[in-house]
Amino acid sequence: MNKGAFITFEGIDGCGKSTQIAMLEEYLVSSGKTVIKVREPGGTVVGEKIREILLSKKNDSMTPMAELLLFVAARAQITEEVIKPALSEGKTVICDRFFDSTFAYQGYARGMGTDKVMDINLAATGGLEPDITFVLDISPEKAFERRAVRDGGQQDRMEALGLEFQRKVREGYILASQKYPRIKVIDASGTPDEIASVIRDLTMKIGEA
Ligand code: TYD
Repeated sequence: MNKGAFITFEGIDGCGKSTQIAMLEEYLVSSGKTVIKVREPGGTVVGEKIREILLSKKNDSMTPMAELLLFVAARAQITEEVIKPALSEGKTVICDRFFDSTFAYQGYARGMGTDKVMDINLAATGGLEPDITFVLDISPEKAFERRAVRDGGQQDRMEALGLEFQRKVREGYILASQKYPRIKVIDASGTPDEIASVIRDLTMKIGEA
């Protein structure tokens, strides 16, 4: 694995990203890497304000285009302010969601068009793409059970869209993985240790091909 790798984690809500991100971070740090961990939307002062707007259930009148542009605006900010400087200093960046979320949620599940969304995404990041992306694949039913335990039934504006929406998001991720070879779909129904070991092996191969 090279210095300055850019790794992103994706999946439907409740797929187990946080656990896997923490495990990969611990592994990389113990093998001597400097790691920066960020989340989307958010991760900057501007981005956290945008996050509040996006996730507040009070904003149920938000149009799909406004939603798309707000997610992308938060991404433009974190890319310039945090991700690019860290990569150029040789740090490894792990991002909890990045532009494949917009592909799957807004482009596919909301029906706004995946090609259009990817064009806007790439404009926002100035062409920066992850080196590798892990989609943690799990059934929406199982993810829903995990979220119920984690959040005690509390849902944000996106989660409140329900199981049918999560099914579409899952399909959107599969479609993205067929278009972009950097995306690795990982069966997330196993134990955390099993999943972490698959992710570690793939991470160590970054830059080898
Ligand atoms: P968050 O609490 O960060 O969810 P999670 O813990 O599952 O990552 O909330 C982010 C929500 O926003 C989540 O439902 C996914 C959604 N989202 C989009 O719809 N488009 C995007 O581009 C991004 C980054 C997130």
